[in-house]
Amino acid sequence: AMNNATDFMLDVNEIPQRYDEAQLWRIYNISEAMQQRVPVGQVLEQKFGGNIWKENSKFLDISIQKEQVKAARAFLEAHRLDTQVLNYNVQSMIDEELLEGVMKTSSGPGVRSKKATGSTMHWKDYHDLETIYGFMREIRTKFPNIARLYTIGKTVEGRDLKVLRISENPREYKKIWIDGGIHAREWISPATVTFILYQLMSNWEDQPSHIRGLTWYIMPVMNPDGYEYSRTVNRLWRKNRSPSRRNNCLGVDLNRNFDIGWSGYGSSTNPCSDTYRGNAPASEEETKAVAEFLAKRKYNLEAYLTYHSYGQMVVYPWAYKAVKVKDASVLQRVANTAVQRIAQKTGSTYRASVTHEVLGIAGGGSDDWSRAALGVKYVYTIELRDRGAFGFVLPPRYIKDTALEGWTVCETVAQAIG
Ligand code: ARG
Ligand code: ZN
Repeated sequence: AMNNATDFMLDVNEIPQRYDEAQLWRIYNISEAMQQRVPVGQVLEQKFGGNIWKENSKFLDISIQKEQVKAARAFLEAHRLDTQVLNYNVQSMIDEELLEGVMKTSSGPGVRSKKATGSTMHWKDYHDLETIYGFMREIRTKFPNIARLYTIGKTVEGRDLKVLRISENPREYKKIWIDGGIHAREWISPATVTFILYQLMSNWEDQPSHIRGLTWYIMPVMNPDGYEYSRTVNRLWRKNRSPSRRNNCLGVDLNRNFDIGWSGYGSSTNPCSDTYRGNAPASEEETKAVAEFLAKRKYNLEAYLTYHSYGQMVVYPWAYKAVKVKDASVLQRVANTAVQRIAQKTGSTYRASVTHEVLGIAGGGSDDWSRAALGVKYVYTIELRDRGAFGFVLPPRYIKDTALEGWTVCETVAQAIG
């Protein structure tokens, strides 16, 4: 039986999407073109089959398939849009990312280090969902007194949505939520969130009281269907995989599906768009599961950290409107500290700011929702590496340092909670 909900088990005979000689462009002065009613991103996406990687107030990163390069170029020239080519062959980036992982992990002693958790988990490469879930189960097994593993829901393709809770404290203590993998192709995000889990648990007994005193909720992969699809079929897939009632396009952008400013700017009503908001707020299983789980635990929920890529930024609400939260100066200060510590540790430059100023206005985000609906104070979206050289296709050799940067934000926020 084809087309039923269990087909994913067989890994449907879908032909992998290739990006041979697809170019990655950075286009500047988008807002000026917008003023002349040329929605550059939308035109390139719909007319030239472009795949938007990043859109902010300064530029647009988009990949264009080989066949469309000429026509898309002509369009940009006609509108005098200043364009820089970031990469001439997206497929070779994807191939090299894969090859590097294979070379790093297939041989050599010490690779399968049994150190902290006795696991086969490592941060020399990206992992499939089952490996990540296996790692979560191992932690639960190794720390039965403080770790609890929840299945908070299921995806349309039948995969579990898993959250790990770490707590020494019976109840009523301050809580922190961390998620990754809302967007499928941002592989560095689940890698970073699993690394945070590792940092916590590999020396839990030695952690300072501001870390041990917290109750941690950790969800490394909020979008498992999308994540697996990006690993097996389309490396640049962003959304989940839920079917639309209106046409053949699949997937909702989960970070446009939360019930805050849902029908406003920055998302699409078109199911074929990469920023499709869904047919209603929290229409998606993933959104519903997280929202319900957290609504029950909102008491003393002090922080909501959500990891994305790319851009190297630490941003805080609001995103759905051009207003700062009341305590923005506190959030800015903590973000500044995190950014300074990152610079000291790895040398990377991150930017701390309010979201709408650097990423533009967009409704339906989980970050805004956690502040508006749950009243969480320390709400941050962390855009990990890099700044566009590789974008989503970040080579595995950068995982460890990038994950350390993600951990640094987490540590700094935990300290701020106190
Ligand atoms: N790259 C993320 C996205 O586009 C940024 C999220 C910022 N927050 C927001 N609510 N838009 O979803
Ligand atoms: Zn993202």
